Amino acid sequence: MKAIVYERYGPPDVLDLKEIAKPTPKDDEVLIEVYATTVTSGDARMRALRVPAGMELFARLSLGVFGPRRQILGFELSGVVSAIGKSVTRFEVGDPVFGTPGLGLGCYAEYRAMPEGGVLARKPENLTFEQAAAMCFGGTTALDFFRRGKLQSGERLLVNGASGSVGTAAIQLAKHFGAHVTGVCSTENLELVLSLGADAVIDYKREDFTRNGETYDLIMDTAGTASFSRVKGSLNKGGRLLIVTGRVSDMLAAPWVNATTDKRIVADMAGEKAEDVRLLAELAKTGKYVPAIDRTFPLKRIAEAHAYVDEGHKKGNVVITVGGGSAT
Ligand SMILES: NC(=O)c1ccc[n+]([C@@H]2O[C@H](COP(=O)([O-])OP(=O)(O)OC[C@H]3O[C@@H](n4cnc5c(N)ncnc54)[C@H](OP(=O)(O)O)[C@@H]3O)[C@@H](O)[C@H]2O)c1
Repeated sequence: MKAIVYERYGPPDVLDLKEIAKPTPKDDEVLIEVYATTVTSGDARMRALRVPAGMELFARLSLGVFGPRRQILGFELSGVVSAIGKSVTRFEVGDPVFGTPGLGLGCYAEYRAMPEGGVLARKPENLTFEQAAAMCFGGTTALDFFRRGKLQSGERLLVNGASGSVGTAAIQLAKHFGAHVTGVCSTENLELVLSLGADAVIDYKREDFTRNGETYDLIMDTAGTASFSRVKGSLNKGGRLLIVTGRVSDMLAAPWVNATTDKRIVADMAGEKAEDVRLLAELAKTGKYVPAIDRTFPLKRIAEAHAYVDEGHKKGNVVITVGGGSAT
């Protein structure tokens, strides 16, 4: 089968289209013919080993010291079940599915085997395979941070970086949970963020949300510009700063801030759960959560897609089509 392989960290041209062995599903696995995947900010960061200052050693220890241990990127997929292991009962050959192997990666390939009990669900009929491929990265990250930050109905949430993959998912999901949502984005993305259901928008190029007198119960930072020292005055008593990306110093300070102030920092790697993707699928069926798609590229042009994502200004998600002959 065809797959995109990278053997060293670096610019987009480290990504090579190669022929590799097609996986055989184990007894509890389904083999998925991949129709679409995405280039997430995480894929681009892992490819380039682009990590916050002070984290490179830790990143190399977890991803591979001299080069990537997992040489096929791709965090999420949609496709069709093409074979099942002996003990599989939840899925049948021909089922359209979407899901994520998480940091197991490996979705930049024509086939990916996943356990039937993994983070995998049936594709909602009203979504295209391109949309379904983009369900998980932003969606599971937002759900995990809202769970850890204990987002409640009626609370005021500000999403800094509202136009990216996590931001566009966070707005829709927070509205579903009954929050009042303010999105911070650049001028050209104001319409997009409002169209996703935000109650208010702030153009970060014209206004500093920390200086307008408004306060929030939660601030979610997906842009890395909302340090605790900058935003603490914008947090209500009991307020939580959800650091999806940010400074290592804030992450290290979290236990101290949480123990000594009336505010909290939540900073961690998001986890993915099967129940979360099932919730995302349910919400997608009723149009409450529809992944925003920016651009779509075929697999053979994946380096171009990575270069675009490297610019740091994608709107929602960048999709890669794999099936239907587009891999060649
Ligand atoms: N902790 C975790 O487990 C976890 C999980 C997922 C992602 N992440 C990290 O979270 C970050 C966001 O991920 P993503 O996939 O959503 O990224 P993304 O799709 O690339 O979006 C980033 C967004 O940030 C906006 N932005 C840039 N500068 C800004 C500023 N000064 N103020 C407000 N917005 C600004 C950009 O919009 P403009 O074009 O308008 O500037 C862009 O839409 C990445 O660094 C990613 O690695 C962490």
